[in-house]
Amino acid sequence: MAEPQTAPVVNVDPANLALRGDKIVKRFGAVTALDGVSLTLGKGEILGILGDNGAGKSTLVKILTGFHQQTTGTLHVHGEETLLKSVDHARALGIECVYQDLALANSLSIYHNMFLNREIVRRGPGRVLRLVDHKQMRERAAQLLEDIGVHVPSVDLPVERLSGGQRQAIAVARAVHSNAKILLLDEPLAAMGAREAALIIDLVMRLKEKGGLSIIMIMHNYAQTLDIADRIMLMQRGRVTYEQRSANTSVAELMDIVRREYRAMRATTAQ
Ligand SMILES: Nc1ncnc2c1ncn2[C@@H]1O[C@H](COP(=O)(O)OP(=O)(O)O)[C@@H](O)[C@H]1O
Ligand SMILES: [Mg+2]
Repeated sequence: MAEPQTAPVVNVDPANLALRGDKIVKRFGAVTALDGVSLTLGKGEILGILGDNGAGKSTLVKILTGFHQQTTGTLHVHGEETLLKSVDHARALGIECVYQDLALANSLSIYHNMFLNREIVRRGPGRVLRLVDHKQMRERAAQLLEDIGVHVPSVDLPVERLSGGQRQAIAVARAVHSNAKILLLDEPLAAMGAREAALIIDLVMRLKEKGGLSIIMIMHNYAQTLDIADRIMLMQRGRVTYEQRSANTSVAELMDIVRREYRAMRATTAQ
């Protein structure tokens, strides 16, 4: 079995780090979801995280977004040691997440979703009255989507009329427009067909080209991950069992590592 990881295998220049986690442990009662995970995320880098169900991927993301707090271990955000106290705290530091189960209001329009909880308001006719400025939100939403190449027939459409891929794209656009520096995507391609997945992959690549954004993507498909990510991390049973630049590994190598881990695990449980 792989030894618990103590330090990232691949060095990223410390001066160029958006995020760093050291020996992060997360316990839920008797369950150890994360058992000493260390990771780094460079500025402008895409890190792909692979691993089976229950490996701890979502738990890691939830710690990085301030939803959960780690039991032990430290996080550095933009070079400073930080305990992320809440999702709002993480957001204030430029960390945004698009969750597996999307938090969009399906009956509301695309533009409204893009500005949900941060509506643009203008002064109304009275002194105190403030009105939601639909015209400005509509225009801004259309512009923002165009900027990142997301095509929808109209920003007035309710989100429920969109495909899963388009909805995911809207959720990503919303996260990005709120000035995210670090974007976390938890299985953005889950339950998507090839065309839909291509739409999201294109969007992520365009965001990378625009620069200024670091991205962590939790993925299922090894080949897609190696295509899109600069670096990959393999998680198994709450640990990082492998980390490598995408250019230096292959689907075959990753499958081999996973198989080896399984064999080791079966051998241990059989004892
Ligand atoms: N809120 C929670 N309470 C108790 N156990 C949890 C909680 N969240 C996750 N777990 C457990 O932690 C482990 C890792 O889960 P998770 O992070 O969702 O894995 P993954 O996203 O890789 O499938 C699992 O055993 C899961 O049951
Ligand atoms: Mg998960």
